Amino acid sequence: MRVQITINGEKHEADVEPRLLLVHMLRDVLRLTGTHIGCDTTHCGACTVLLDGRPVKSCTVFAVQADGRELMTVEGLEQNGQLHPLQEGFMQEHGLQCGYCTPGMLMTSYAFLKETPNPTEGDIRWAISGNLCRCTGYVNIVKSIQYAAAKLRQGGA
Ligand code: FES
Ligand code: FES
Repeated sequence: MRVQITINGEKHEADVEPRLLLVHMLRDVLRLTGTHIGCDTTHCGACTVLLDGRPVKSCTVFAVQADGRELMTVEGLEQNGQLHPLQEGFMQEHGLQCGYCTPGMLMTSYAFLKETPNPTEGDIRWAISGNLCRCTGYVNIVKSIQYAAAKLRQGGA
């Protein structure tokens, strides 16, 4: 089937099998390898992308379901060579170790902060509860998101 998706503001088209998962289209067909695969069973959240602005686990969505829709992946966070405050926060607050979960954490947090610009620590922990990190213990991830929330409230990006 012919699929057309706008990804990070750019139109992409591909012929795909109806059974192809969105994450495999991103990584294997379009070579957008920033989106990771951690489990393939909807548990880990490493594959999280935004479909029409809402976080989805792209290992649980068929590519054909994204036809005609807007997608944002981790590659879309940086703008004109400027890191997004979330990316900056993860760097400043050491929000990652191996980095495997990081793309999913960033995308979930991006959508979350749009809806909840002034979150409590509990709000943040709830928001990322569908994203598993095997390394950090979450303390620095929470700090990274708090850093980004504060910067975004001050008008950064
Ligand atoms: S790879 Fe999709 S949730 Fe783990
Ligand atoms: S930083 Fe390694 S899984 Fe999260």
